[in-house]
Amino acid sequence: MQNFTFHNPTKIIFGKGRIADLGAEVPAGQRVLVTYGGGSVLKNGTLDEVRAALKHSVVTEFGGIEPNPSFETLMEAVKLARETRTEFILAVGGGSVMDGTKFIAAAVPFPGEDPWDLVIRKAPVKKALPFGTVLTLPATGSEMNSGAVITRKSIGAKLAFGSPLLFPRFSVLDPTKTYSLPPRQVANGVVDAFVHTLEQYLTYPADAPMQDRFSEGLLRTLIEVGPVTLREPEQYEARAAFVWSATLALNGLIGAGVPQDWATHMIGHELTAKFGLDHAQSLAVVLPALLTECFEAKRAKLVQYAERVWDLRDGDAESRARQAIELTRTFFESLGVKTRLSEYGIGAGAIPGLVEALEAHGMKALGEHRDITLDVSRRILERAQ
Ligand code: NZQ
Ligand code: ZN
Repeated sequence: MQNFTFHNPTKIIFGKGRIADLGAEVPAGQRVLVTYGGGSVLKNGTLDEVRAALKHSVVTEFGGIEPNPSFETLMEAVKLARETRTEFILAVGGGSVMDGTKFIAAAVPFPGEDPWDLVIRKAPVKKALPFGTVLTLPATGSEMNSGAVITRKSIGAKLAFGSPLLFPRFSVLDPTKTYSLPPRQVANGVVDAFVHTLEQYLTYPADAPMQDRFSEGLLRTLIEVGPVTLREPEQYEARAAFVWSATLALNGLIGAGVPQDWATHMIGHELTAKFGLDHAQSLAVVLPALLTECFEAKRAKLVQYAERVWDLRDGDAESRARQAIELTRTFFESLGVKTRLSEYGIGAGAIPGLVEALEAHGMKALGEHRDITLDVSRRILERAQ
């Protein structure tokens, strides 16, 4: 096991009806900025519950944070937060609203001229407003981690940044608030959580048996409850297991002390920035191709994955490992998430531009061995056709 420091300060408030507990988490009388997306939280009643729970705060609201939150929109919220002298931010939504809120929290007290410097890591996050979240979409784990992914539309960039100052103070996870999700977003969430787990598990053996078994438990749970929760959105137990799995998949626990990959995410971000694929769609396209391209480097863990996650015990090790990759693809497709670039209308002609974008964003040595060069990324994209 590798050395690690694990520190996760986010308090989780889980279960039905827990939004009512918000009042106890936000000090009375504070000026609170409530952030949300395109309106789903207005329609499903979540925002009304939040307003009622915050009756002892001075609340300002900022709506309109779009999927793949944009710097351009978020800067409007930064302006509003400064004008209203916001003391605390509450994000109500999915990964985009939570990530956008992390950026706002860091940008409001930023003394420099251009808060984009925080995203490109030209300037460190030295200060951030405190914030909490009310989760409405299980997928990203943003509710219990300190990372955020921000898009700057004007230059076609989608980049990740983070800071220990950007953990939410608390997150309310009420699975019933996710019932209104359309099937596409439920499927996206299952795929995203699944790929988060694989990015930290499917590398090379690192003598980390608990991390492996936690990961295998999450993967098996997602395979089990994913289809159930898609079919029966209001079956509470399946939805609750899905919500907590997605949080645990990216809160630092399974990644402590083990090598991590993240190449699928970095290549996927370019697909979203250039072609607008949903985050999870981009992952579903890249992952099977990457596992095939990097088969030798990942062979030992693929064999373990085949046996412990997919129960494959017959045949030789190589064919079991290859079958596990195919079952992963079939799993994504069974949820309704397509796994080929061509199915999203993206042809081979797009690949050079995607590789150039990777280069421009400094993604020249990805993966757990830092050996996914631009050339390897190109081959992965070719396999993803
Ligand atoms: O905007 P509204 O109207 O709220 O609608 C949203 C949006 O259209 C809708 N939605 C959310 N909750 C709903 C709902 N609709 C009905 N009922 C509900 N309860 O779902 C749509 C997608 O929302 P979004 O927040 O964009 O989805 P997701 O949670 O998948 O977040 C994706 C973003 O997170 C980033 C991705 O790159 C992408 O920008 N990620 C963040 C990570 C992190 N912070 O650690 C890691 C991830 O790998 C990921 O990169
Ligand atoms: Zn993701």
